[in-house]
Amino acid sequence: MTAINRRRALSGSAAIAVGVPVLAACGSDSSNAEDSSGSDDTGSGDSGDSAGGDNGGGGTSGEVLASAADVPVGGCFVVSGAKVVVTQPSEGDFKAFTAVCTHRGCLVESSTEGDIPCPCHSSKFSLDDGSPLAGPATTALEAVEISVDGDSISRA
Ligand code: FES
Repeated sequence: MTAINRRRALSGSAAIAVGVPVLAACGSDSSNAEDSSGSDDTGSGDSGDSAGGDNGGGGTSGEVLASAADVPVGGCFVVSGAKVVVTQPSEGDFKAFTAVCTHRGCLVESSTEGDIPCPCHSSKFSLDDGSPLAGPATTALEAVEISVDGDSISRA
């Protein structure tokens, strides 16, 4: 009787060891950790007026974001602290958007590849208007008003 109980106990622990899940990490920079503290955006509306969210849209007017030289032509430059991505779709034409991905809130990445990529689930956004070019994101990045003075790009 004791032997049977011991056998059962051993087989039970083996089953537990086999049941340990294997987690696969998706590649992303440590600087780009998901920030789920702000909001639960699943299914949220597209009005873009959600106060309280820290999505880069509420910075101080006049805040210097980048120098024009930081932003590649046909690419984008992420200002991590401000959570803003500045783009230059064509030479001398600068635009800016929130750098917070509309899918799950990761920060998008700087790029020279003709779009704004998100490292978390591979969404891509337009340099021109922040609209989604590839999912899973379905909502555009919110525009951020900027002014360009010489080589300096600031929040308008
Ligand atoms: Fe950007 Fe999922 S958080 S694609």
